[in-house]
Amino acid sequence: MTPVPTLDLEDARLLVLTGAGVSAESGLATFRDSNGLWEQHDVQDVASPEGFERDPRLVWKFYSLRREQAKTVQPNAGHRALADVEKRLQDRFMLVTQNIDGLHQRAGSDRVIEIHGSLFRTKCSRCDRAPFDDQALYLEGALPVCRVCEGAGHEALLRPDIVWFGEMLDQGHLRAIDAFMRRDPGSPSVFLAVGTSGVVWPVAGLVNLARSLGASTCLVNAEPADNTSRFHSFVQGKSAEVLPALFGLNRAGH
Ligand code: OAD
Repeated sequence: MTPVPTLDLEDARLLVLTGAGVSAESGLATFRDSNGLWEQHDVQDVASPEGFERDPRLVWKFYSLRREQAKTVQPNAGHRALADVEKRLQDRFMLVTQNIDGLHQRAGSDRVIEIHGSLFRTKCSRCDRAPFDDQALYLEGALPVCRVCEGAGHEALLRPDIVWFGEMLDQGHLRAIDAFMRRDPGSPSVFLAVGTSGVVWPVAGLVNLARSLGASTCLVNAEPADNTSRFHSFVQGKSAEVLPALFGLNRAGH
C-alpha cells in the first residue's frame, strides 16, 4: 500500500464512486481481475438485452447465483468507512456505486445511487412498471413472467433490474449527480473513486466532470486504472485498508 494521505473534508462536499474492488475483500469476484466474472462468462451473453433474449435461463441463473452469493457475504471495513464518513458529512456526501450487491446499504450508507441497478430488484423486460424488491432465485424451473403484461394479454418475462451493456443509465440518477457536483460553486469539493478499473463509460468520465468543476480528485485502487492519469492523486492499495486511513478513522474501532 502506498502512503495514505488524510483527506481534508472540512466544509467540503465528497462524491464517491465505487466499483467491484470495494467488495473484493468481502469475497465477491470483480469483473476484470484474473478469475473475474468476465473471464468466466461472455459479457454479451449475461449482461446485454440481446443475451437475455437469446437465453433468459442462462441470464437468470447467472444473476440468481450472484444474488445467492451476495447474501452470504458481509460488508467490509471499506464499506463501513464510507458509511461513517457519510454520518459526518450528511448532505455533503453522495455515493455513486456501480456495484449491484447491496453491501454499501448493509454497511449503513443511505445516500447511495446504484448507477448500474441492483441484484435485489426485478423489473419487466417489456412494460415500464416500477421495479420491485426481489430475492427469489431462478436456478431451474419456470422463469418469472410479468403479471401486468399477462393481464393485458401479452407474454413478457421479468428480468433483473440491472443496466446492461447498450442500455442507458437512469437520467434521474445522472441529474442528481450533476446537481450534487455543481452545488455551492466555489466551495471545496472532492471526488474519490475506489475499486474501479475506469473502463466502463459514462461513469469512467465522472472524474473529468469533477475536475472541470474544480474538485480535487483521488483514486484508490489495487492496481492502476485505465483513467489513473486523470486523477490528482492515486493511492495504490486495498480499499478496506486504505479508506479508514484516508478518512482518519481509527481502524481498531471498526
Ligand atoms: P472491474 O472488475 O472492472 O475493476 C475492479 C477494479 O478493482 C480493478 O481495477 C482492481 O484492480 C481493483 N481492485 C480489486 N480488488 C481491490 C481491492 N481490494 N481494493 C481496491 N481495488 C481493488 O470492476 P468495475 O470497475 O466495478 O457493469 O466494473 C465496472 C462495470 O463493469 C461493472 O459495474 C459491471 C462491469 O461490466 C455491469 O455489469 C453493467
